[in-house]
Amino acid sequence: MTRRYPEIAFGDSVKAVQEENGSRGFGQRLENMEWDDRALGDREREHIERLDHFYMATVNEAGWPYVQFRGGPKGFLKVLGPHTLAFADFRGNMQYISTGNVRADDRVALFLLDQARRKRLKIYARAEVREVDDALRSKLVDPAYDAVIERAYLFYVEAFDWNCQQHITPRFSLEEIREAGPEVWAEIRGDTSLGHPSGDSPDNTTGNLRDTTTTVTNTTKRTPS
Ligand SMILES: Cc1cc2nc3c(=O)[nH]c(=O)nc-3n(C[C@H](O)[C@H](O)[C@H](O)COP(=O)(O)O)c2cc1C
Repeated sequence: MTRRYPEIAFGDSVKAVQEENGSRGFGQRLENMEWDDRALGDREREHIERLDHFYMATVNEAGWPYVQFRGGPKGFLKVLGPHTLAFADFRGNMQYISTGNVRADDRVALFLLDQARRKRLKIYARAEVREVDDALRSKLVDPAYDAVIERAYLFYVEAFDWNCQQHITPRFSLEEIREAGPEVWAEIRGDTSLGHPSGDSPDNTTGNLRDTTTTVTNTTKRTPS
C-alpha cells in the first residue's frame, strides 16, 4: 500500500513548486513509499494520549481555511481505533465556526504538537459532529473536568504524517515541570545549583511564573523522553 498523505497533500501546484525547487524526485519517493499511513499505530496513540490540546483546521464555503485551538484534560482527544479519533467539544464563544464549516465540508486537518517532547503529528480526517449520547459520554467525558459539553466530534482518519523536530522550542506545562523534577524548575528560576531553591517549587508558585506554560531554553538534554 502506497502512502495516502502525499496523495492528499501534493496537489498539482505543490508538485509544480517541488519541480521548480528541485525536490520533485523526493516528493515522488514519498508518494511511492510502501507504508500504511491511514491507520494509527502505537506511536501515534501514545503521542495523542499525552496531549492536552490540538489545533483543528476546517474550510468554509468560500474556501477560506480556519484554524482553532481545542484544549481539555490530558488525553481528551481519544483514539477509538486505528481509523477513528473523538473528543467532547466544550461550550465556547458560541460562534460555532468550526462546527458550521464541518457541516458544509467534513474535511479537516489536525495539528498535534507535543511541545515538551518536540514532536508533531499532522492528520487529515473527515469529521462528524454528533450529539453526546450515553455511549459517547462514557468514552469521551471526564466528569472531573469543569466544562459544558455541547457535542462530540468524531474524526475518520484519512492519512497522517510526522514532522521533524526542527525549530520546535521545548515548552512545558506546569504538570510537565512537576514531572520533570527539580532540575528543570531550578533552571526556570535561574538557579545554577541543582535542586529546588528552598520554599520555591511548582507547587508553591510565586513571583515570575504565573502562566500555566513556560519556555525553557537549552534544556534539550533534560527534555522528558
Ligand atoms: C466567554 C468566551 C469567550 C471566548 N472568546 C473567544 C474569542 O474572542 N476568540 C476566540 O478565538 N476564542 C474565544 N473563545 C474560545 C472559543 O469559544 C473556543 O475555542 C471554541 O471552541 C471556538 O470554536 P469555533 O472557533 O469553532 O467557533 C471564547 C470562549 C469563551 C467561553
